[in-house]
Amino acid sequence: MLAREGKRIDLPGKAVFIETSKESANPFEFLRDVTRSQGDAVQYSSPFGKIYLLNHPDYIRQVFQSPQFHRTSMVTIVLGEGLLASDGAGWKTQRKRVAPFFNRASIAKIEPAIRTSTRTMLERWESIADSGDELDVAAEMTELTLTIIVDALFGVDLSRQLHPLGEALDVLLNDLGAMGCTQFNTPLVFSSADRSRFHQALTTLNRIVADIIDKGRRGNSDPDNLLSFLLETEDEDTGLPLTDVQLRDEIVTLMIAGHETTSLIISWAFSLLAANPICEGRLHHELDQILGERLPDIDDLNNLPYTLMTLQESMRLYPPVWFIARKTLYAGRVGNLQLPENVLVMVSPYAMHRHRDYWQNPEDFDPSRFAVGNHMPKYSYIPFGGGHHLCLGMNLALVEGQLILASIAKRFSVRPSAGRVIEPAPAITLRQRDGLFATLERRRPGSAAA
Ligand code: HEM
Repeated sequence: MLAREGKRIDLPGKAVFIETSKESANPFEFLRDVTRSQGDAVQYSSPFGKIYLLNHPDYIRQVFQSPQFHRTSMVTIVLGEGLLASDGAGWKTQRKRVAPFFNRASIAKIEPAIRTSTRTMLERWESIADSGDELDVAAEMTELTLTIIVDALFGVDLSRQLHPLGEALDVLLNDLGAMGCTQFNTPLVFSSADRSRFHQALTTLNRIVADIIDKGRRGNSDPDNLLSFLLETEDEDTGLPLTDVQLRDEIVTLMIAGHETTSLIISWAFSLLAANPICEGRLHHELDQILGERLPDIDDLNNLPYTLMTLQESMRLYPPVWFIARKTLYAGRVGNLQLPENVLVMVSPYAMHRHRDYWQNPEDFDPSRFAVGNHMPKYSYIPFGGGHHLCLGMNLALVEGQLILASIAKRFSVRPSAGRVIEPAPAITLRQRDGLFATLERRRPGSAAA
């Protein structure tokens, strides 16, 4: 059941070209089928021209590390020139600017906000559990992680705007996903009503972000947080304060990058645990042993390895960022492969994490793959990307994910509603198609099977 230790497979010298005249309704099947049947370097035709799909750790390392590869402009329509969409010198300056807000000391400062918001949600859940009513755990996780990130990074209370903000982000991320999927030949059906819904959502998002900036300028936010810092920052080239557009792009990027992905790893973990009662029992046992009656805090996390392994395995099967696109700035070799200038290159954590040469029984959920001492080739596990664009929020996401998963699982068992199929949906992130509707069972202390 473990990851295949240290196995390295020879790099192919040529990309297999496949003619993809057929539309593929499901990009996950497309990725899995193509990489399994055609190998680690595949070239296929798409509405964007020929795309190279690379699914070997050595190729992936080069794509992440070499200056030959740059980001594409696909998400700039929403994220502007923020950190997640930019590259080159401008990106480097931006990354240096905000990196200190994601170091250990800053995460420790954010931790109380994570615990407070989680506890408030758990108190609300008690009466829902007692009533036996269904709730959408996926939507709850989105709301929780959005509240935490806005509070932690920008220090403003957005509780009254949370609902329209969540709805706008939902539309934008789904529609961006639909646009992104055209790279896997999934047809895009976008009516004029869809177009106007998209623009309305963008207008709502921009209005709320303008409000955040305004509150920050009027001093209605914590002086130590990222928003205050950005408001005081000067542009390196002009020496002037950041423009409203620069501020908007940074805030939107961190707000989107900082909540959606974290919420997904928790809701996927709960649907996988519910389908794997032995793993759920192990998790409950760990929590009961280490925490007793308490809810966790940051100092407990080192003693909760199975909680971390559960998240790592959930991210293997359902990596929130399921494809990463780059374009070649110039022609050059990747391994034995010659890539022309200005072509699209695709890396898919989803495909790499299910590669049979690197993962035994890749479709099975087995957190113990990630036990200390089990080694896997570098770049065969890439939920946070790698190289110079390695996720800036990785440590925050892991701390937040563990705290929330452990707190919920300490108090409740999540029981997905019968008759609802839980399947992945290709938004710009990897979501659950119809959310995660479930009832909650209160857990009595010591109720875990040892
Ligand atoms: C489980 C949660 C998360 C996952 C799976 C995830 C995944 C990723 C991935 C794959 C990338 C690389 C994208 C690329 O190479 O183009 C990335 C970049 C990034 N992530 Fe995350 N992320 C998560 C949480 C967060 C959080 C909490 C934040 C903080 C606000 C964050 C902020 C960023 C930023 C700013 C970048 C751009 C880094 C750069 O290009 O320098 N992420 N993330």
